[in-house]
Amino acid sequence: MLFTPLALGSCTVENRVWLPAMVTWLSNPAGEVTDEVEARYVRYARGRPGMIVLEAMGIRDIASGPLLRISHDRYLPGLSRLVAGMRAAGGPDVRVIPQIIDFLKIARRDPVRSLARLEGRYPGCSAWDESTLQATLTPREWRDYAFGYRQQVEDLDLDEILALPTSFAAAAVRARLAGFDGVELHFAHAYTMASFLSATNARTDAYGGSLENRLRLPLEVIRAVRAAAGRDFCLGLRMLGSDDVPGGTTVDEASQIAVAFARSGADFISVSRGGRFEDAARPPIGAAAYPYTGPSGLLCMPTRDAPPGANLPLPRAIRAAVRQAGFTTPIVGAGRINTVDVAEAALLAGDLDLVGMARGLLADPDWTLKARGALAEPIRHCKYTNACEALDRAHKPVRCQLWWKSGHHAP
Ligand SMILES: Cc1cc2nc3c(=O)[nH]c(=O)nc-3n(C[C@H](O)[C@H](O)[C@H](O)COP(=O)(O)O)c2cc1C
Repeated sequence: MLFTPLALGSCTVENRVWLPAMVTWLSNPAGEVTDEVEARYVRYARGRPGMIVLEAMGIRDIASGPLLRISHDRYLPGLSRLVAGMRAAGGPDVRVIPQIIDFLKIARRDPVRSLARLEGRYPGCSAWDESTLQATLTPREWRDYAFGYRQQVEDLDLDEILALPTSFAAAAVRARLAGFDGVELHFAHAYTMASFLSATNARTDAYGGSLENRLRLPLEVIRAVRAAAGRDFCLGLRMLGSDDVPGGTTVDEASQIAVAFARSGADFISVSRGGRFEDAARPPIGAAAYPYTGPSGLLCMPTRDAPPGANLPLPRAIRAAVRQAGFTTPIVGAGRINTVDVAEAALLAGDLDLVGMARGLLADPDWTLKARGALAEPIRHCKYTNACEALDRAHKPVRCQLWWKSGHHAP
């Protein structure tokens, strides 16, 4: 089944190998496509997976370090060049979509500044020890002191919420103008949209609390993107099959969420898990919290200690719920899949329709060609040590440790 085509709305993938989004840290502080970004994705295109999802790109025109952005028309020339380069390298069958993201504000941990701010409310607190601070401050004040300030969906005012569908739609229109085949809305992990969807969303207005309310903004975003980008533009999303934090969304609720997305006309649903801030480790002073440092982060990017196909129960349950509701929406799953046997078995069992392989394709961009016998060399299998994730955490260019060991320095 790996090498059978599948239609995702108006866009057909030639095979079921799916490269999920993976931040590269190869952009520049302006968020532009650099030569290094282009080289990385052209290399992936040469290996001919069915779909390449480009790393998360910001939809709001705000400084966000060397993360790609699609937040203004000035990004169009670079993005167009990138797509053209990938099509030239991968041929007419290569399908390319960007993952588009909104994220909330986050600050580096700065205890001195945090305490100076708290002095007004708690005179003398700068001299307190941490156990006194923890016992006296509100949970939110403690968290902002101990981990660094982090904006939550509960902090957003209505104007900020109402602007989001328009920002997503404008980014999708830019994606279309740049020549992409569609967009993937980032509704997963620690970021704005997943936090609206999460059972932890404690807003008391129409955008929080009940599942219906938590779905409101994501459904508004889907409608706005569809209206702006058109029916013939592939529109899918990545969501959490489970938050994996206390009080978070579980797979049963995620299945209902997925059915609502299928009903809204999503062309695919990509299922991830975890990667939340709620259980992230305390960052060192001067660093910002990173959502993949806790137990939910480990579930998101399972290491070699986890079994192959570790996260398959989530797409399996979600796909079953979506099919039971009468929808044929293709489901993508990922998590420690990097052998033909595991991929093929998951497809045959109906766990998923498209096989996500992030670290597997980073380790060997030619995985697809080798799996179908178009290249003679053996597949270079990811060892799941998470060396790439450590680079991501340190905001360093993401590479695979196996490239050097095998003498392959590219891409
Ligand atoms: C370095 C790195 C960067 C990642 N960046 C993103 C991202 O931008 N968006 C996203 O949805 N997932 C991101 N992920 C998660 C992967 O897409 C994928 O879900 C996860 O690695 C599990 O799949 P795998 O076992 O095939 O690697 C990233 C993972 C890694 C290792």
